[in-house]
Amino acid sequence: MSRAGLDKKPREVAAMFDDVARRYDLTNTVLSFGQDRRWRALTRRALDLAPGERVLDLAAGSGVSTEEFARSGAWCVAADFSLGMLGVGRERGGLPLVAADALHLPFADESFDAVTISFGLRNLVDTALGLREMLRVVRPGGRLVVCEFSTPTWTPFRVVYLNYLMRALPAVARAVSSNPDAYVYLAESIREWPDQPALADRISVAGWRDVAWRNLTGGIVALHRARKPLP
Ligand SMILES: C[S@@+](CC[C@H](N)C(=O)[O-])C[C@H]1O[C@@H](n2cnc3c(N)ncnc32)[C@H](O)[C@@H]1O
Repeated sequence: MSRAGLDKKPREVAAMFDDVARRYDLTNTVLSFGQDRRWRALTRRALDLAPGERVLDLAAGSGVSTEEFARSGAWCVAADFSLGMLGVGRERGGLPLVAADALHLPFADESFDAVTISFGLRNLVDTALGLREMLRVVRPGGRLVVCEFSTPTWTPFRVVYLNYLMRALPAVARAVSSNPDAYVYLAESIREWPDQPALADRISVAGWRDVAWRNLTGGIVALHRARKPLP
């Protein structure tokens, strides 16, 4: 069983997700106390999709979010570089799935009305390059929504949460996941991840405009949204 390190070597990240793919969705629901479904529904609302729009769900894994977004009537493509995760997505049926590296997307410039990434940006070896690739494939005026773990805003809650992350989460993962070590990586990578304003800065520096965010579940998760500037 493999787990990635905080250097996020792409081969190790892909292999780790291949290992957890089979029980990935179940493990998430258990570890998040069922909140993951709500976070995905709120991501769909933040995307504000209209029927017929073209949406790229990047690092889509098993396509669980893509399926949620497709409920809007938009045409949603799931892209990921873990064939194990995409294999689980194929069993859902009906979703367009693309094996793709987020840092070298196999899509033409300005192909999508919106691009979104849920719990994926943190896993990219180069966040800035990933954000610029997303900018490239979206049309001018198109939207970005990033759903990612973040920093709880209320200090006492943050302390309890960080304890859960570092102690309880790996223990629960041992009972549920096919690769518990991957959840040690999850805890460590969340702890190292920039907080809400710092991520907003990175998104702006990559060329996105009108960057804003909303905290979910006290800041455990944040939804960052932005627009590609018009020419
Ligand atoms: C935590 S999972 C999130 C999956 C899904 N978006 C969700 O919300 O459940 C992170 C996903 O990012 C994918 N990933 C990481 N780096 C990637 C890259 N460079 N290109 C494509 N996918 C990548 C992994 O394969 C994995 O499926």
